[in-house]
Parts: sequence; C-alpha cells; structure tokens
Amino acid sequence: MSRASQSRAVASASPLRTVAYAPPRVPAPEVLARIREDRVIADARRTVRAFAETPVAREVIEEALRIAGSAPSGAHREPWHFVAISDRDTKARIRVAAEVEERTFYETRATPEWLEALAPLGTDFAKEHLTTAPWLIVVFRRDHDETPEGPRKNYYVNESVGIATGFLIQALHRAGLATLTHTPAPMTFLRELCGRPKNEKPFVLLPVGYPAIDCHVPDLKRKTLEEISTFVE
Ligand SMILES: Cc1cc2nc3c(=O)[nH]c(=O)nc-3n(C[C@H](O)[C@H](O)[C@H](O)COP(=O)(O)O)c2cc1C
Repeated sequence: MSRASQSRAVASASPLRTVAYAPPRVPAPEVLARIREDRVIADARRTVRAFAETPVAREVIEEALRIAGSAPSGAHREPWHFVAISDRDTKARIRVAAEVEERTFYETRATPEWLEALAPLGTDFAKEHLTTAPWLIVVFRRDHDETPEGPRKNYYVNESVGIATGFLIQALHRAGLATLTHTPAPMTFLRELCGRPKNEKPFVLLPVGYPAIDCHVPDLKRKTLEEISTFVE
C-alpha cells in the first residue's frame, strides 16, 4: 500500500467528529480596550527570585494547571505533565540537588560569554527560592506516550510544552502570583525526585508564590514593538 493510501486508510478509520464553536463575540469598540488592559497586566510581570513564605491555596495551583492544560498542542497530544510540590522535604531535596548542578555550572561549565549574559541578573548557584516559595511546579515534556499498544510518538513537543508553560506563567501572574522560570542544567535529577516515568523529561522548574516584601528585580528594558515585529499589510 502506498504511503498516501495508507494515510487515507488511517484517516477513514477515525472519522472527523465536530462540535459547534461560537465563543461570545467581544463588541468591536471593546476589543482594543480589552487587549490594552491585558497588555498592561502582561507588561507588569517580572521574574522573581525572592519569595515570601506566604501560603498559596492548592485550588489556585489546580486552576492554573487547568489553564496550562488548555494550551494548543501538536496533533492534540498534550505532551506535558505538571508536578506541583508544597511538601517541605521534597522542596529541600530539590534545592540540594539543584545547587549541586548550579555550582558546577557557575564554576566550571558556563562559558565566559554566558556568565557575561547572566551578570545583569545577579544570579549565582544559591537557590534559596526553592525552599521559600510555597509551591514548586515541575513541568515535564513527553516525547512519547506509553500506551497498551506500545510507545506512541508525540509531535512538536518543545513548542507545545513551551506554550503551555507560557499559559501557566501568565495565569499565575494574572492571579497576583509571581514565578521564576528556572532551568538548572542538567535537570534530570528532577525526574527521580518527582517519581516520574522514563518517557518524561523535565522541561522547566517554576517556583510559585508571592514576592518577598523587599523583593527587587533587575532593571531590564523590553524591546519595543518596532524591534520585535514587522507588519505586512
Ligand atoms: C527558558 C528560560 C530559562 C530561564 N532560566 C532561568 C534560570 O535558570 N535562572 C533564573 O534565575 N532565571 C531564568 N530565566 C528567567 C530570565 O532570566 C528572565 O525571564 C529574563 O531575565 C527577563 O526577565 P523578566 O522575566 O522579569 O521579564 C529563564 C527564562 C526562560 C524563558
């Protein structure tokens, strides 16, 4: 059977089922005001590295994860898993393991160019936020799913999990919470500490909580619209 007829056979085995889609239409005069309001909120988001220990209800994290899970994904494979940790001992174990990796990174692995790029952020190997933030969310990516029929490949995994993580960060920010996008390298220790299966790879570690009372963030400027976009009209 040719490749084309094979794919037609597969397609006809799973007929397209649809549901009506008619989201409420925002009245035209309100569209700009709404998107501007959203832009102001989005622009106020900052990555936070100093967290208060103030607790955050589990329901808040659950809702944020539902928002993350609403993200689009390649072939609708939803190739993600989120581990939300508030347990003190687990957070402490993650901090110890992350600081081991980070120390090697800063002392031996990072190139001078990389260290220069990080200098304005004032980061170093110490990761106190991993124990002070009330929640750590570890985002895992799944390159394939394990099914009763065997491994099933997922598509555009990086893009899909990146979009879901963006949804998650933005949702938490809109709820008044702060996050840190933390990528200790390598992150493989997270799979074992979170008890996740071999087909999942840690993608990012997000401490979540309220900023510490005296929280300061680097004085960064964002690129302008002109710098980040081109219009073809
Ligand atoms: C993929 C990715 C990885 C990052 N990894 C780290 C990290 O390991 N440690 C850290 O302190 N910040 C990390 N950051 C945060 C960036 O430094 C931060 O987003 C950037 O400086 C811009 O600041 P802002 O988020 O406040 O706008 C990461 C951000 C992204 C998107």
